[in-house]
Amino acid sequence: MVLTASLMAGCLTTAESEARDDTPPEIAKLENPAPELPDSRVRYFARQFKGKCARCHGADGSGGGEEAQAQDVPPADLTDAAYMRTRSDGQLYYQILAGGGDRCAMPAFGPESDHGWTDDKIWSMVHFIRRFAGQD
Ligand code: HEC
Repeated sequence: MVLTASLMAGCLTTAESEARDDTPPEIAKLENPAPELPDSRVRYFARQFKGKCARCHGADGSGGGEEAQAQDVPPADLTDAAYMRTRSDGQLYYQILAGGGDRCAMPAFGPESDHGWTDDKIWSMVHFIRRFAGQD
């Protein structure tokens, strides 16, 4: 979170938390319905993350992607176990589904978006993201 703290200088902490927490309560409490990822699927999602997420979130999930510095709300450190314990599976799912809208640069990947990811693909990506902090 050191990187986040330094990039957040001058921004309100409330803006940061709102940017991360607009998940409807009924979605925030959902548990991940997708099965744990077998190794072949881990490799697939690692490629997806590298191709579509790493430019902001960093290849290792720590938030140090080359475009991270340009964001008003910088990507969080997904390797920070204490922080990630504050995020529910439903919250992670919803941010990938709906994106940040006008709150932050997080793109939407859900069925209605240009990316057109299925629910199963998004929930599986949540499993993959949990691995950065050793929580899956
Ligand atoms: C253009 C930059 C950008 C790209 C590309 C991007 N993100 Fe994000 N993402 C953000 C920002 C900024 C946030 C808001 C800060 C935060 O919560 O990390 C965010 C938030 C998130 C969150 C919520 C994390 C939390 O703090 O609760 C998840 C999960 C996430 N992104 C996953 C992904 C995945 C998976 C991809 C690729 C499929 C991706 N992001 C692509 C910038 C990006």
